[in-house]
Amino acid sequence: PFQLRLARSGATLDVPAGTTALQVLLDAGIDVNYSCESGVCGTCTTAVLEGTPEHRDSCLMDAERADNRLFTPCCSRARTAALVLDL
Ligand code: FES
Repeated sequence: PFQLRLARSGATLDVPAGTTALQVLLDAGIDVNYSCESGVCGTCTTAVLEGTPEHRDSCLMDAERADNRLFTPCCSRARTAALVLDL
C-alpha cells in the first residue's frame, strides 16, 4: 500500500494492495485518461513531483524511468510511502 497526494486538488488517497493507482484516482473523481490499463500505451502517464515510482510499465523510455518524474498509474506502484502527483 502507498499514498497518492495530489498537488493541484490537495487530495490524499490510499492505494491498497491489489488496487491500481488508476482505479483509486478514478474512484476519487480525478480525470485521468487511460486506455490499455496494462502499461503498454502510455496514455495514463502522469507527472510525479515527489517520491519514487516502482515502474511496472513497458512504455516509458529508460531515461524517463530513471528520472522518476513520470509514472503510469494503471500498473506502476511506489517505492516510497507516498507519491506526489501533478493532479
Ligand atoms: Fe496504457 Fe496506463 S493505460 S499505460
